[in-house]
Amino acid sequence: MKKILVINGPNLNMLGLREPAIYGSRNYNALLEFIRTSAAQLGLEVECFQSNHEGAIVDCIQQAYGKFDGIVINPAAYTHTSIAILDALKSVAIPTVEVHLSRIEEREEFRQFSYVSLYAEKAITGLGFDGYREALKHFA
Ligand code: DQA
Repeated sequence: MKKILVINGPNLNMLGLREPAIYGSRNYNALLEFIRTSAAQLGLEVECFQSNHEGAIVDCIQQAYGKFDGIVINPAAYTHTSIAILDALKSVAIPTVEVHLSRIEEREEFRQFSYVSLYAEKAITGLGFDGYREALKHFA
């Protein structure tokens, strides 16, 4: 069974409360349940990690080396700023799919560039929770 690591970045633990018009009204626990159910349906083993700290996300990616077949990552605001997360993904060379709940291409200019996209095999944006299932499908 393929093992997939799902990483969510800062403020995604605030889903439900956080700008529901953009990110929806379901909370982070609902997202975890959605990811776990989707993974089970697709025959994938999944582990989920969320942090508000860039270094913790870098540590998590480094520790994934040799343990996971794929990474699904929503780096949240670090998408647009973090060379460290990009470098960590390149270091472990684990196939990666990037996910965003919202359609970042159509939002503020500062959200339109993604460092992670320089490495990720695919970016899925604007599908809400369903984007995570699409990303898992990529590995199934
Ligand atoms: C996000 C988009 C980012 O620009 C933002 O900073 C987030 C969430 C998304 O899922 O749409 O925190 O990654």
